[in-house]
Amino acid sequence: MNILAIESSCDETAVAVVRDGRVVLSDCISSQVDIHKLYGGVVPEIASRKHIEAIYPLADQALAVAGISRADIDAVAVTYAPGLIGAVLVGVNFAKAAAFALGKPLVPVHHIRGHIAANYLTHPDLEPPFLCLVVSGGHTMLVDVTDYTKMTILGGTRDDAAGECFDKIARVLGMPYPGGAALDRMSQTGDPAKYPLPRAKVDGNPLDLSFSGLKTAAINLIHNTQQKLESACAGREATSSGPAGHLPLQRKAAALEEVIDLPSLCAAVSEAVSSALVSRTELALEQTGRKTLAVAGGVAANSRIRTQVSELARRLGVRLCLPELRYCGDNAAMIGAQGYYEFLAGNSADMTLNAYATKSLVGESL
Ligand code: KG4
Ligand code: ZN
Repeated sequence: MNILAIESSCDETAVAVVRDGRVVLSDCISSQVDIHKLYGGVVPEIASRKHIEAIYPLADQALAVAGISRADIDAVAVTYAPGLIGAVLVGVNFAKAAAFALGKPLVPVHHIRGHIAANYLTHPDLEPPFLCLVVSGGHTMLVDVTDYTKMTILGGTRDDAAGECFDKIARVLGMPYPGGAALDRMSQTGDPAKYPLPRAKVDGNPLDLSFSGLKTAAINLIHNTQQKLESACAGREATSSGPAGHLPLQRKAAALEEVIDLPSLCAAVSEAVSSALVSRTELALEQTGRKTLAVAGGVAANSRIRTQVSELARRLGVRLCLPELRYCGDNAAMIGAQGYYEFLAGNSADMTLNAYATKSLVGESL
């Protein structure tokens, strides 16, 4: 079964052709990151407009790369939630038009279920049940995947998602949006013990997490250092080169690097996020007795998290599935993978399908 899959929930327009949920015939992505970088984050209105420009030629490209014609498509799968509403709507409307014109079923896919399904592409023998640690830009949760379309959320963040925490700290450090990957690269040579950062404990569900305290502590540390630096520089300029004033931005950034060990701060942030995730994952594995652990979402690309979950899995004798790096971030192949199983479970939609900015990944499919 060939599924034409569409993804447009944030700042990547993506179209793929996936056979039987596991074989990627094509996986085309048009990224808008360079545009949104100019604004330090995704501008929803721009994202929607860019999706409209990109989606039609990208679908043609996906068919050409797959080496199939429109007649060979058996169903159209699309991310219908969650995401930036205008952005998701572009994909949903395109998918509706394509399914209608081709006379083929329309299959709605929850974006996070798609991220989980990215693991089926990298690990062709992976089957539920398994535990999945979902870590993306907007979501952080532990999901018990009992079947391809049946899952339970065991716990999750009460505030910021892991990706959001990385991105906001990276932004204050002057790294371009989205800063998670840059922060990860910067952390490689750092000493994570140099800056003690808080590890949040939340009342209630022991599998829940919180990242807002860590984010605030790291940002406060940067701002306080910046302020001390500015007043020291202002004093210096007042006594030497005339009136007190602020340093030009570039000199300030350079000076910040002299007073903060950036690799070590980035390593400390990564360590704090990773250890929080790993301790909850260990508890969830104990609680559920699952023997397979998968990780999903953009933050699954983080090197420290990959290393630490690998160590955890080895220690507990659990099988670990990590998606290939290209399937960690947003892509349409993962939507085609999950779309196949949604179709088999009877979860198709008619032309009244709508897009949703928020929706739980459990419960009814629409
Ligand atoms: O899954 P995704 O595309 O977003 C949502 O569906 O919400 O993930 C994007 C997130 C961004 O926050 C980005 O900074 C983060 O994944 N990310 C990383 C790394 N690569 C991407 N975070 C930490 N380390 C990385 N290597
Ligand atoms: Zn995503």
